[in-house]
Amino acid sequence: MASNNQNPRVLSGMRPTGQLHLGNYHGALKNWVDLQYQYECYFFVADWHALTTGYEDTSRIGAHVWEMVIDWLGAGLNPGACTLFIQSRVPEHAELHLLLSMMTPLGWLERVPTYKDQQEQLREKDLATYGFLGYPLLQSADILLYQPKFVPVGEDQVAHVEITREVARRFNHLYGREPEFEAKVERAIKQMGSKQGALYRSLRKAYQEQGDGESLKQAQALVDSHHHLVLADRERLIGYLDGAGRVILPEPEVLLTATPKVPGLDGRKMSKSYGNTIGLREDPDEVTQKLKTMQTDPARARRTDPGDPAKCPVFDLHRIYSSAETQTWAAQGCRSAGIGCLECKKPVIDAVVTEIRGIRDRAREYEENPELVRGIISEGCEKARDVARETLDEVRSAMGLEYR
Ligand code: TRP
Ligand code: SF4
Repeated sequence: MASNNQNPRVLSGMRPTGQLHLGNYHGALKNWVDLQYQYECYFFVADWHALTTGYEDTSRIGAHVWEMVIDWLGAGLNPGACTLFIQSRVPEHAELHLLLSMMTPLGWLERVPTYKDQQEQLREKDLATYGFLGYPLLQSADILLYQPKFVPVGEDQVAHVEITREVARRFNHLYGREPEFEAKVERAIKQMGSKQGALYRSLRKAYQEQGDGESLKQAQALVDSHHHLVLADRERLIGYLDGAGRVILPEPEVLLTATPKVPGLDGRKMSKSYGNTIGLREDPDEVTQKLKTMQTDPARARRTDPGDPAKCPVFDLHRIYSSAETQTWAAQGCRSAGIGCLECKKPVIDAVVTEIRGIRDRAREYEENPELVRGIISEGCEKARDVARETLDEVRSAMGLEYR
C-alpha cells in the first residue's frame, strides 16, 4: 500500500445535490473537516452515483458539482490537507466496478436494504435499472481503489460498507493466492513442530469438513501462540484455515459519523425535497427571517402558553448550537412560559448566522475565481488517479489480466 503519509487513509464521497444545507453540513461535511487533520483523507464528488437515480435529466449535474465543491471549501476543507476529486475524472472507478461485477453474486445486491426501500420511496422514477441495482458495488469500487482504513459515513450507508467488505473478502479469496502459497504454508507448518503441526492439520480438517467453528478458533489460537513464527507465516497459516490467501484489497472499516437531528423549518427532517432548508451560503438576513418564522411547539399558540422543548424543532437546533447553560435557560423558559419563542430563538439565530457568515467568507474567493476551484480539483484528480492506478495494477495482475 503506497502512501506518502503516516496517517491511516480515509475515503468518503457525497452525491452532488447542488448547494448544501445545514443538514448536509452536520450530517457529514463538518466531520470531514475535522478528519482532514487526523488522517490522509480523500473526499470525492460521487457524480456517477447521481445518475443511478437521476439519469433522465442530467442538465444540472455540472452546476451541482461545482456548487458543492465551493460549499466544501467554504466549510473548511483545505486542499492543502486533503485530496478533493470528482469520481468521473478517475475512470479507474468504472474499471474496478466492472471487474468486481463479474464475481459479485446478484443476491448480495438485491438484499441491500436501500435497494427496495428507495425504489418504493422514489416511485415516480423507474429504478428497475442495472445501474441502480449495481450502485452499492460502484460504491465498493470507489472505496477499495483507495485501500482506506476508514470510511466515514452515516447510519444509512453502513450496509454499503458492509457489502464492500464482503466483496473485498471474496476478491482476496479468489485471487489472493500468491505464487508458492501452498509450499510456503507447508514450510510454516513444519516450523510449528511435528506434534503441533499435526494438531493444526487435524483442526483445519475438522473445520473444513465438518464446519466445526470451535476447531477453527482453536487452530487460530494455536497459530497465534507460535510467536517464533514470522508474521507473514502466521498470516498464511490463518488464511489457509478458511481457504483465504494474500490480501490484495484490504477490508475497510466504517467510521460511524454521529449525526445530530437537524430539523428543517417545518419541523420535519431538513431535506432539499421538502423545501425546508437553510443553505450553507444563504444570505444572513434571509436566514434570520426563516428562523424567526420557523415552526415551534404548536402548544405555544399564545405567549402565555407553556411549551415542551421535546416537541419543538427549534430546541433541536439549541442542542446543536447552544451551550448547556443556554439549553437549560431555553428549556426552563419554555416550560414555564417565562420566555417567548422569539427570545428563545435569538441565540440559535446568532449561532447559525455566525456559522454561515464564516462559510460565506471562506467561499467568496472561490465563487469569484472558478479557475481556482478547477485547479484544486484537477490536482486532486491527478493525485487520486495515481493511487487508483496502483491498486488497479495489482488487481489486474492478481486476476491474470496484465497481458499486453
Ligand atoms: N452512496 C453515498 C451516499 O449516497 C455516496 C458515496 C458514493 C460514498 N461512493 C462512496 C460514500 C464511497 C462513502 C464512500 O451518500
Ligand atoms: Fe420552542 Fe423555545 Fe418556543 Fe419552547 S420557547 S416552543 S423551545 S422556540
